[in-house]
Amino acid sequence: MPTSRVTVVDHPLVQHKLTYLRDKNRSTKGFRQILNEIGMLLAYEVTRDLPLEPVTIETPIQPMEGRQIQGKKLVFAPILRAGVGFLDGMLSLVPSARVAHVGLYRDPETLDAVEYYFKAPSDLADRTVLVLDPMLATANSAIAALDRLKARGASDLRFVCLLAAPEGLAKFQAAHPDVPIWTAAIDSHLNDHGYIVPGLGDAGDRMYGTR
Ligand code: PRP
Ligand code: URA
Repeated sequence: MPTSRVTVVDHPLVQHKLTYLRDKNRSTKGFRQILNEIGMLLAYEVTRDLPLEPVTIETPIQPMEGRQIQGKKLVFAPILRAGVGFLDGMLSLVPSARVAHVGLYRDPETLDAVEYYFKAPSDLADRTVLVLDPMLATANSAIAALDRLKARGASDLRFVCLLAAPEGLAKFQAAHPDVPIWTAAIDSHLNDHGYIVPGLGDAGDRMYGTR
């Protein structure tokens, strides 16, 4: 049975910055800044295979055929709250992208994803949608976000995270085998509270200084 392709982005800059993020002594300001920088680097990797088309332009010297990204405009779809941490970095590389917001929180008892907000461009069927969330733990949030985006017409989807747990990866791949995944690391396992081990803690809380 076909399954989602998983790309581990092992670029030294990404790995170096990830280690900074994991450090429990990193400040809220430092955490936000580094997550943003990693977002930019991941955007570079996840867009590596976008199709190009020829375009005729004129340089100051003569006409020439250059190349530009073909057709479909990108949509970034951060899962609130922590997915927003990637957004500015990604938009700095692709400023014309549209943004869909998917508001989900994990019920602390059941670990089920609960939706509280959804707003997306109307033409998702015509776009490549990059779903953003630093943490793929049980995968309940990622699966719920992808279900919702597919129900709204999206069919060309990619998922970008920072850390994935093996349990979440397997569940994601069973639910959405057509959606490729980019992650900076695959960690050891989930603990009894559904947190990634060794992980980096609660990404949303560390980003916003809550709890
Ligand atoms: C965190 C994280 C993911 C989710 C991952 O969000 O940002 O969205 O948990 O866990 P899962 O794979 O088990 O679903 P959380 O619900 O804590 O909300 P927050 O980002 O607003 O803090
Ligand atoms: N959500 C987080 O923010 N961190 C985890 O380890 C698991 C889910």
